[in-house]
Amino acid sequence: MQATTLEELAELAASFAAQRGGLLPLLHAVQARIGHVPDEAVPIIAHAHNLSRAEVHGVLTFYHDFARKPKGQHVVKLCRAEACQARGSAAVEAALVRSLGIAMGETRGDGAVTLEPVYCLGLCAIGPAALIDGEPVAALDRENAAQIAAELLQ
Ligand code: FES
Repeated sequence: MQATTLEELAELAASFAAQRGGLLPLLHAVQARIGHVPDEAVPIIAHAHNLSRAEVHGVLTFYHDFARKPKGQHVVKLCRAEACQARGSAAVEAALVRSLGIAMGETRGDGAVTLEPVYCLGLCAIGPAALIDGEPVAALDRENAAQIAAELLQ
């Protein structure tokens, strides 16, 4: 993650303003640069793209991949879709929540881990599945989930 001033954000926003459909690429660029799309960026983006703040906010909240707050050093995305549910993802989630000390959708206070839901990773037959820092992990159960959580907190 790189520190970015509001002026740099404004320059970045302006650089996408002439591009048709440039809002989504801009939001991805902001997230790639600073790890999330902060509240302070919304009016800057709205101004540069001649949109209302509500319109930018609407796009940000519609696409769950956009983070509004900084994420943890590690990000665990646990599948909550049907096939993984049928294979026991609720027990895996409970183990992760207990071991990490956070609820689904939260980041630990020490910034170590963020736990997020995701809906199907294409690993349905070998679920419950998750992405851990972008790497797919399958065949999760209570025990290996607790072990993974402990390793992430080391
Ligand atoms: S339902 Fe979980 S990977 Fe498809």
